[in-house]
Amino acid sequence: MTKRDIITLGIGAAVVIFLLMAPEETTPHMPVDDIHAEYHRIFKQDGKKAAEKFCKDCHGKPGLEFSPKHPDPNRCLFCHKPEG
Ligand code: HEC
Ligand code: HEC
Repeated sequence: MTKRDIITLGIGAAVVIFLLMAPEETTPHMPVDDIHAEYHRIFKQDGKKAAEKFCKDCHGKPGLEFSPKHPDPNRCLFCHKPEG
């Protein structure tokens, strides 16, 4: 092995470690349940914007408030993936 090979390996290892350290995705997905089934359907048919219109019918209302650390609740499906 030449010095160059070792440097190449070193850089490769650093990249792998960096990728492994990337933060885990923690934003909860839109649940797949009876409540949300309708919005999954609208999303598939008409896209995010159409489905998002309904989120605030429930979310943000008494009993289903956003937590204090929740980011500005707009464009829900940008952050809360409907799939997966
Ligand atoms: C008919 C009322 C209603 C509507 C409309 C609604 N939700 Fe919900 N949502 C709930 C309820 C109740 C819960 C808590 C129980 C559950 O997980 O289903 C919840 C839970 C959630 C959660 C939390 C999941 C978790 O793991 O903490 C997310 C994210 C969410 N909804 C996203 C959405 C999005 C995005 C929309 C719009 C496309 C939407 N909801 C529309 C009632 C609703
Ligand atoms: C900029 C990204 C972003 C947008 C836009 C967004 N959320 Fe969230 N949401 C998050 C994150 C991140 C969390 C987890 C926060 C935590 O750990 O408490 C979360 C958590 C939630 C939860 C779980 C309970 C809570 O309040 O922590 C619900 C329900 C929810 N979001 C619904 C919605 C709805 C409905 C919309 C649209 C009206 C929306 N979110 C828009 C990022 C977003």
